Amino acid sequence: MSKRTEEHKQDSQYRQAKKQGYRARSAFKLFEIQKRFNIFKRTYYILDLGSAPGSWLQVSKKLATENIDKYKDGFYHRDHFRILGVDIKKISSIDDIHFIKMDFTLPEFFDQVKSFFNGPKIDLIISDASIKKSGNKFSDQINQIRLCNSTLRFLDLLKYKGNFVIKIFEGEDYKHFLNQLKKKFQNVKAFKPQTSYKKSNEVYLIGLRKK
Ligand SMILES: C[S@@+](CC[C@H](N)C(=O)[O-])C[C@H]1O[C@@H](n2cnc3c(N)ncnc32)[C@H](O)[C@@H]1O
Repeated sequence: MSKRTEEHKQDSQYRQAKKQGYRARSAFKLFEIQKRFNIFKRTYYILDLGSAPGSWLQVSKKLATENIDKYKDGFYHRDHFRILGVDIKKISSIDDIHFIKMDFTLPEFFDQVKSFFNGPKIDLIISDASIKKSGNKFSDQINQIRLCNSTLRFLDLLKYKGNFVIKIFEGEDYKHFLNQLKKKFQNVKAFKPQTSYKKSNEVYLIGLRKK
């Protein structure tokens, strides 16, 4: 795809996202992941790491409440789902979603998550968190892996058979991280959404059914 066609595609995806009320085109990445892996099936407690500006939170709310409609005879109550988002940047609020402006690598955030979900009860953890890219692919990849490693502690709060989605950059240490996930999940898949930039080395790892 030429640079111009790629830019045109990105522009039109951005406009489409805005038109549908989503804050970013990344919303479509999560929809693609859902379509392929059905990670939101019977999912009510969700943790979103690196949430700003909030489109994954919007999508999570939509898909979690659809579950409630489907599985609870249309009875909808906000206590049936709990969604927590975190980012170092602030976001404008979303009804029924709890957001904490904080660095999620800090140990005190783990305690906040634990008390929010009242123990290891999370159905789904999603992380679209990215480091600020420097342009140096090698150091960016190392820093992204470091960030990914810091998300692994939250898997202690994911319930048995819970699912996990994480953005990673392909390169050094990718295999090692993938192998760590393979130890923790019954199945691990790598997925590159069509919405991702073609030249980007980002890939999403999907951990299915925690062991
Ligand atoms: C690609 S954006 C997420 C987009 C989001 N999924 C959406 O759909 O709106 C990546 C985010 O990760 C956040 N981030 C990176 N490191 C973080 C950290 N240690 N703690 C909290 N947020 C972090 C960045 O501030 C940035 O907003």
